[in-house]
Amino acid sequence: MVSSYRAASDIDVVTSAFPIPGFGKVPVNAFVIKGPEPILVDTGTVVESADFMRELRSVIDPAELKWIWLTHTDFDHTGSLNKLLAENPQIRVVTTFLGVGIMSLTTMPLPMDRVYLVNPGQKVTLGGRTLTAVKPPAYDNPSTTGFYDEKSGTLFSSDCFGALLSTDVPQSAADLSDKDLREGQVFWATLDAPWLHKVDQGTFARELDSIRAMAPKMVLSSHLPAAPGRMLDRLLASLAAAPDARPFTGPDQAGLEQMLKQMTAVA
Ligand SMILES: [Fe+2]
Ligand SMILES: [Fe+2]
Repeated sequence: MVSSYRAASDIDVVTSAFPIPGFGKVPVNAFVIKGPEPILVDTGTVVESADFMRELRSVIDPAELKWIWLTHTDFDHTGSLNKLLAENPQIRVVTTFLGVGIMSLTTMPLPMDRVYLVNPGQKVTLGGRTLTAVKPPAYDNPSTTGFYDEKSGTLFSSDCFGALLSTDVPQSAADLSDKDLREGQVFWATLDAPWLHKVDQGTFARELDSIRAMAPKMVLSSHLPAAPGRMLDRLLASLAAAPDARPFTGPDQAGLEQMLKQMTAVA
């Protein structure tokens, strides 16, 4: 079920709480940045594309969109990409060379005249908004590129700072308890970026410090409710704990059979 809420006067969140059986729910967010050249950040999941498009239309007429910033090419970010490009020929997709390469392996390759390539560190000005491309400290796909929006002071962090939640998903991360936020974030980080267990802690701490130095007014993760900037230290502390946390291991066949037995018993 896809719904939406306003995170700032010119930023809406199009969201759905995606269940991970046996573990909880993870929010899946796309964002609409309104202005002279409206930007859609990611396009929801493949499986909920029809529902996503319905909700998106309640937030903005897709014909008004000028840009899609594709933070990376995973199935929870590209769900309605094809549909939107077909529906609105003026949309251009901000992505990376690698993003284009990965999409070229799918049934929906990005036409080269519809892309706009950026690399982390580069600035682009879209409709008067200056956006600085950012490689977030944690990610699950090498094409990942988030950005910092100077106008709103918002960091769009892609999968980084996501949290797996056992509670209902609120519209603000500030409504999560310290425990739910920390445990949810650590769990998500170990699941989404298992390579964190192998990183040099000093190097990782410097990556986290570079985000701290940005001092965003808001953090919008693809997998966390909207988070006010005052929560940044907590968000970073959870990530800092991830490398030493218990590595995520999914259920094996015996675990799956146990889960299926429980589901049959409930039914
Ligand atoms: Fe991802
Ligand atoms: Fe994601």
